[in-house]
Amino acid sequence: MGLGYIGLPTAIIAAKNGVEVIGVDINPSVVEKTNRGELHIVEPGLGDMLADVIKTGQLRASTTPEVADAYFMVVPTPFKGDHEPDISYIESATRMVLPLLKKGDLYVIESTSPVGTTDKMRELIYTERPELEGAIDIAYCPERVLPGNVIYELVHNDRVIGGQDEKATDAAVAFYAQFVKGTLHRTNSRTAELCKLTENSSRDVQIAFANTLSLICDKADINVWELIELANKHPRVNILLPSSGVGGHCIAVDPYFITADFPQESRLIAEARRMNNYKALWCAEKILHTITKFRQAEGRNPVVALMGLAFKPNIDDLRESPAVEIVMEVTTENIGAELLISEPYVSEYRNLKLTDYREAYERADIVATLTAHSQFKELAYNNDKMILDFAGVWKK
Ligand SMILES: NC(=O)c1ccc[n+]([C@@H]2O[C@H](COP(=O)([O-])OP(=O)(O)OC[C@H]3O[C@@H](n4cnc5c(N)ncnc54)[C@H](O)[C@@H]3O)[C@@H](O)[C@H]2O)c1
Repeated sequence: MGLGYIGLPTAIIAAKNGVEVIGVDINPSVVEKTNRGELHIVEPGLGDMLADVIKTGQLRASTTPEVADAYFMVVPTPFKGDHEPDISYIESATRMVLPLLKKGDLYVIESTSPVGTTDKMRELIYTERPELEGAIDIAYCPERVLPGNVIYELVHNDRVIGGQDEKATDAAVAFYAQFVKGTLHRTNSRTAELCKLTENSSRDVQIAFANTLSLICDKADINVWELIELANKHPRVNILLPSSGVGGHCIAVDPYFITADFPQESRLIAEARRMNNYKALWCAEKILHTITKFRQAEGRNPVVALMGLAFKPNIDDLRESPAVEIVMEVTTENIGAELLISEPYVSEYRNLKLTDYREAYERADIVATLTAHSQFKELAYNNDKMILDFAGVWKK
């Protein structure tokens, strides 16, 4: 259930390994495209594999589920209201398969989910189908692949598999063992749910520490990159690097699934989230302040290059991107300065006029790096410009 960034590659790889797969998505255009053997997502190497399994009939897509032996929920889990997890997609996908369930079936949730979601779906299943009570193997198995490297990671990463009981864990492990070469770690569903949230919250907290150091260093006039490099010479210290903030739809989202349910206990996680959100705002303020300083010193408006829109280096993904937030903030607030916005990985974004990064860098009086794309690293650091290297392109 769900043929998106995670569901589709999983369906293709399972099919490639001999599993007969019916890929279900409520979006008809996703289904049509998939049945034509065309990939609707960007993922290197996956297109040929899809064409292959569609041709052999090992995978076919449909807008409605059919009777099967195992069902996988790989649907979105966004948040609603004030950062509260929305599990309605899991519930609706579960309701769609409910009438099809039979004794001995396997039901697995892969979507990133708040603790207790699998318990809730078990309750739903057995309330609606009481005759099946205890006869369905219900488990949670989160995904941790890196988009762009999915074919390798989906097979080679270790997986955490949490059943509602030992038998359910056995059944889920037996399923994934058909195509996963990484170790399949057994646990219960609640631990598996929190494990996925913990992984991304851990990254968020560690990045927040690095971003905190960047603010301290800015005030103390200390080079944060040098500081971190030196601190990391300690054999048991491994500080991550600061940036313009945290984006994407995993690290910037999943910690809220913990803070919404455990507000008292997760204050550190909430504070890290606030810190990483604040960092983008801080960068925007720093740019505006530098524009004012330039104007006072030079008596004219500066040309400002804002370099990067993606949420991390070398990708075209702009979801939840702090770089976008900074650009929007500066564009709204800025009076006078000429802004040159560059993003080598996209050709257009909203109504922004994009400029080639080399031209932007060349013409700018003030340069702010928002994403550390490899292309930017090839530009020679120019001492004549006012450079705000938030992304650590030159680490000077
Ligand atoms: N993309 C990632 O890198 C990544 C990594 C780890 C975990 N996850 C988690 O995996 C889950 C899925 O993420 P994604 O990136 O694949 O999402 P996505 O938005 O790319 O795809 C989800 C698909 O589910 C479909 N859908 C919605 N409701 C449905 C229903 N009732 N029945 C069938 N299909 C339905 C949508 O039309 C969509 O095509 C989320 O919980 C996400 O947090 C994603």
